[in-house]
Amino acid sequence: MSDSDIKKGLAGVTVDETAISKVNPETNSLLYRGYPVQELAATQPFEAVAYLLWHGELPDATQLAEFRSVERAHRALPREVRAGIDLLPLSAHPMDEIRTAASIIGATDTAGAASVLDASGTPEENLDRSIRLFAALPAVVAYGQRRRRQQELIEPRDDLDYSANFLWMTFGEMPDPVVVDAFNRSMILYAEHSFNASTFTARVIASTLSDLYSAVVGAIGALKGPLHGGANEAVLHVFNEIGDPDNVTDWLNKALAEKRKIMGFGHRVYKSGDSRVPTMKEALDSLVEHFDRPEVATLYDALENEFVSRKGIYPNLDYPSGPAYDLIGFDTLTFTPLFVAARVTGWTAHIMEQMSSNALIRPLSAYIGTEERHVQL
Ligand code: COA
Repeated sequence: MSDSDIKKGLAGVTVDETAISKVNPETNSLLYRGYPVQELAATQPFEAVAYLLWHGELPDATQLAEFRSVERAHRALPREVRAGIDLLPLSAHPMDEIRTAASIIGATDTAGAASVLDASGTPEENLDRSIRLFAALPAVVAYGQRRRRQQELIEPRDDLDYSANFLWMTFGEMPDPVVVDAFNRSMILYAEHSFNASTFTARVIASTLSDLYSAVVGAIGALKGPLHGGANEAVLHVFNEIGDPDNVTDWLNKALAEKRKIMGFGHRVYKSGDSRVPTMKEALDSLVEHFDRPEVATLYDALENEFVSRKGIYPNLDYPSGPAYDLIGFDTLTFTPLFVAARVTGWTAHIMEQMSSNALIRPLSAYIGTEERHVQL
């Protein structure tokens, strides 16, 4: 095998087919089951998009009502999950907390399974499992933030849709419609993105006929990295480091001299702009106006303008979503768990797709170690 046969990072390699989403870097477009993501973000509640990803079609009014009643029935933080979270130190990263929570939900739900041989579950069981995770993870994020702030758990409300209830459980007050709309858009934009690193991780795990929960737990681990989901948290650290827009040039000179990656910029697939950014930037702008925080937009624009003009590398979705979540009031460390709550829809859609036409994912490697040798006796 020659070096040119090796595609480091699997860059440019097509590993399978999918009917869930289509990323087109040439036209900067992203379609979920054929629908442009911008259109979905502008018109749909997140629940309808979750339904679309799993079923292939948007729900009609009756289907949405039925789906919502199942989702609402699973919103409360399960007792075992709360107990598990309470065992963790307050200094545990919220990504470790949500990974642990997903694991406890899985272990509780699949308790009693006779052996690993029935782990992969039926399509109906896997849809139930997906809804269970989708419904329960907001309570995990909300409780985690409240626990770190020494605040009491807030029970879910079943008169609110997914996004409004998520904010209610986190902050304990009725969110303003502008905030709910911005948050709902972010959830939809984060929901799915073809064979990204965490989704591929989930598919690799599912391909062994392991269970859906194990695949989601692995995906959460992959998402934590700052080259992937962790970037939305990292963007806020960058904003805090820069502080004032007047510092952008000096900060960037130093960061580039140190060969640092600027978080929230660049993408493996999109090389001339991320299709999701304009919609999320609009949502950020609405929050900047609502909370009267123009300095956030000034810093955002200053860093973007200078970095793009110097390097020709464009912002990705994490760039506007980080400051948006900050304005809403989430702690910086909870930004990537918010991404988990959204992406669990895409992951589970992919896990079910993988299981429906499975081939064990097991690539080859080129050995470069020591040639065969023998123990000297
Ligand atoms: N800051 C500084 N330089 C960057 C950069 C960034 N955010 N993104 C890419 N580059 C540079 C690389 O240093 C490299 O330069 P070189 O050719 O001189 O070595 C070139 O652009 C290609 O980058 P590379 O890392 O090989 O591209 P990739 O497709 O493997 O990486 C990312 C994609 C997302 C990992 C990368 O852009 C990155 O690290 N971004 C920051 C983290 C982030 O925002 N992640 C969220 C992704 S949605």
